[in-house]
Amino acid sequence: MRTFGGLIILCLTIYSYAQYINIDYKNYDQITNDNEYVLVQFVPKRCQDCERHKNIFKMALDILDTKIPVGVVNCSSRTEEYICLKNKVADNQIPPIMLFHNINHAPYRYEGEDSPKQIKDWVTRKTKINLVAVHSLDEIQKLRQEYNSKNTTLVVGFFEKYDTIRYRWFTEYSHRPELQHLMFAECVKCPKNALEAFNITLDMVASLKYDNTFQRYADFQNLPQLLSIYASAPFEELNDATSSRFHSSQIPVMVFYTDLSDVWEDEDQLNAFNSVKDMAPAFVGRITFMYAEFSKYRLHFERAGIAPIPLPKIILFAENGGHIYSFNTTGKEMLGDWLNKFMRGQLVPYLKSEEAPLDNSGPVQKLVTSTFKSTVMEGDKDVVVLFVIPNSVDCEAFEPVYNKLAASLSSVEMLSFTKIDVTKNNIPKIYLPVYPCIYVFPADNKSNPVRFEGDKSESNIKKFLNSNCKVSRSHQTEKRKRQRETEKKDEL
Ligand SMILES: *[C@@H]1O[C@H](CO)[C@@H](O)[C@H](O)[C@H]1NC(C)=O
Ligand SMILES: *[C@@H]1O[C@H](CO)[C@@H](O)[C@H](O)[C@H]1NC(C)=O
Ligand SMILES: *[C@@H]1O[C@H](CO)[C@@H](O)[C@H](O)[C@H]1NC(C)=O
Ligand SMILES: *[C@@H]1O[C@H](CO)[C@@H](O)[C@H](O)[C@H]1NC(C)=O
Ligand SMILES: *[C@@H]1O[C@H](CO)[C@@H](O)[C@H](O)[C@H]1NC(C)=O
Repeated sequence: MRTFGGLIILCLTIYSYAQYINIDYKNYDQITNDNEYVLVQFVPKRCQDCERHKNIFKMALDILDTKIPVGVVNCSSRTEEYICLKNKVADNQIPPIMLFHNINHAPYRYEGEDSPKQIKDWVTRKTKINLVAVHSLDEIQKLRQEYNSKNTTLVVGFFEKYDTIRYRWFTEYSHRPELQHLMFAECVKCPKNALEAFNITLDMVASLKYDNTFQRYADFQNLPQLLSIYASAPFEELNDATSSRFHSSQIPVMVFYTDLSDVWEDEDQLNAFNSVKDMAPAFVGRITFMYAEFSKYRLHFERAGIAPIPLPKIILFAENGGHIYSFNTTGKEMLGDWLNKFMRGQLVPYLKSEEAPLDNSGPVQKLVTSTFKSTVMEGDKDVVVLFVIPNSVDCEAFEPVYNKLAASLSSVEMLSFTKIDVTKNNIPKIYLPVYPCIYVFPADNKSNPVRFEGDKSESNIKKFLNSNCKVSRSHQTEKRKRQRETEKKDEL
């Protein structure tokens, strides 16, 4: 049986009309079961606009680089009538194109425009489906083992029947580019022991994570978001929900930036996306792989000093973001080779820094890349850092407030106020949701800077500093005590 399928694949690598398989009532079941996918054009009785549509299909096949067998069903032939009926092919229509997937009970029917490119894209998209059907606990466990060993999370949907809105949502989610790092399985009418094994009821979803933990979900509407948060995988999206993983990662983070709304439509982007995704498992524990919508993270490009075009772009953040490496996606080097060079310490980081100012007194010191470590991280003071970008109305409006605050606290010896332009300097990877953004790096806890949130009034910031700058506060208290003692002595 298998050799038969193999033969078909061989014959069909050259797409000429003669190489279509004639699907008839004798081979229909076998061909649709033995091949994972089969692409079929039905030729209805009294076929409309037949030759043109056959040609469009042929042109689609010419540009479709796939090994999927292609067949044709002649509905005018009496013996094939039932195949056409079964697949809802009426007389007098244009020849429909369908894609059979051997795990599905019905084929997908092409509903798009009469264009070879659109047909090709549709087939490409559909055959990338990462959704399979399972029917027993045994099958679920086998699949789990298989995917978990590739560091991939398996997401299983348990359903009563196919014809439900939740089932449709689930299958739709499995196509989402942002969930392509997960493997999906559906278990319709799943046996009781499978439900019990995951303590789950019908119309629920379990994500079986590669670290052997699992999570259950009943909230279908928010499922994509929940999955992208909890079922984290070797290659996950950088977004608001996952930004903490980007910022707190102890290992280097590599980000693949692209236009996510378009990634499915653009073949080059999709190929690049998939090849990075395939590479990710091998780097688990050494480099965190993420991908991001490029338009949300324009600042990353500015910081790395690279233009966000052409897409995709790949940037590697190491040493807590202090070191930035940019991969030349249009060059000849393979990403894997580049990453291995990085692991061996053979890459030179891109460092961007303004000149350190000669005179840096004043209540607010100017920080640059080359002084960040010595001033902020290694100094023994509590350091307030104002992160700004040029030409920002908010930053310009806030600076006088900040300068005034710094001047009013200039007598606090163990506290210093600084400012850095993040577009001109590489800075440690730190969460900067808005500009201006204020952090204090407490003297007793430099690796855990605290971000100021809320209304940026002088009094609010003072309160914030008072509760986060223990070292300068106790130093001040000591100083005052000593002063009072001296005063007392003087009085005596
Ligand atoms: C389809 O079947 C009919 C009836 O058997 C036959 O006359 C016709 O030539 C067939 N068409 C093709 C393209 O094989
Ligand atoms: C099964 O799930 C229910 C809630 O859905 C929970 O109350 C119960 O403790 C769970 N049982 C086990 C064994 O985890
Ligand atoms: C999965 O991740 C581990 C580290 O957690 C790694 O050692 C292993 O090589 C990865 N497996 C695959 C198939 O990439
Ligand atoms: C990337 O590689 C291409 C082709 O080798 C080259 O033309 C281009 O200058 C490179 N870009 C950078 C930023 O090095
Ligand atoms: C440093 O900050 C972290 C995170 O806020 C906290 O858990 C830890 O206790 C702090 N350490 C000291 C010495 O205050």
